[in-house]
Amino acid sequence: MTQNIVKVKVWDVPTRLFHWGMLCLLGGLWWTAESGEMEWHQLLAYSLMILLGMRLLWGFIGSDTAKFSHFVRSPKTVFNYLQKTKQHGISASIGHNPIGGYMVVALISLVTLQLVTGLFATDEIFTEGPLYATVKDDTALWLTWLHKQNFDLILILAAIHVLAVGVHMFKGDKIIAAMFSGYKRLPSELEQPLVFASVVKAAIIVMVIGVLVVNYFMLPIIEML
Ligand code: HEM
Ligand code: HEM
Repeated sequence: MTQNIVKVKVWDVPTRLFHWGMLCLLGGLWWTAESGEMEWHQLLAYSLMILLGMRLLWGFIGSDTAKFSHFVRSPKTVFNYLQKTKQHGISASIGHNPIGGYMVVALISLVTLQLVTGLFATDEIFTEGPLYATVKDDTALWLTWLHKQNFDLILILAAIHVLAVGVHMFKGDKIIAAMFSGYKRLPSELEQPLVFASVVKAAIIVMVIGVLVVNYFMLPIIEML
């Protein structure tokens, strides 16, 4: 029996920009921390704050496949998905699969924690996060320690994520191309009606968060450069 393959839009522009933008910024954040370029470390972190803020909101008011309610499934659904995968192997899905959804939540949560702990962090020489002075010294040192440890956890989860992506690619599910183009080729029976939110809405969110972040976090650093 021949399967009818159709081209389906799965990822919108904001979700794709968030993913690849975050990847570049995380690379830059690691590099700037390693080389002691702390002004740039902070500027990159605040750029990520804008992207992350947009993505978190987009998880509630964005396109269907970006919504947390679309990809955070019940444990029963995860169990059924695992059973199905055990019997029939990996199959393509629209948006994140039930296990992938939990990985996405874990990655976004850890990156958010990294950003928040950074706000309280200190290198005990020149750099203090903007909220450093709001907590006791011991707490700030503990949050700095967490900032360093949590990054290792991000690296471990990201490695598992990339490995899982690799396994999907090996099984013929072209998910990397889809994260670039937004489109997937799928059997027509998987096609489902999806609502895609307007890019203008995302641009407005980025602008509003951007103005606040630039004003309160970035300008004080730029003035010191
Ligand atoms: C070369 C490295 C990477 C590749 C090739 C890659 C690839 C992908 C792909 C293909 C997806 C879509 C998965 C699906 O179809 O369900 C995805 C989603 C995602 N990836 Fe990655 N990824 C990489 C690195 C990372 C890193 C370093 C992080 C974060 C630490 C990350 C976080 C995420 C998140 C949060 C999503 C969900 C996107 C969203 O819904 O906003 N990825 N990635
Ligand atoms: C998601 C955003 C962030 C990422 C991915 C990130 C990443 C990192 C990494 C990889 C390190 C080095 C850890 C180590 O030495 O083992 C580091 C250190 C540090 N980060 Fe961040 N950071 C982020 C946000 C921030 C923010 C907003 C600040 C605010 C000032 C900040 C301040 C610092 C400080 C003070 C250190 C310690 C440097 C030292 O002791 O040498 N980070 N960060």
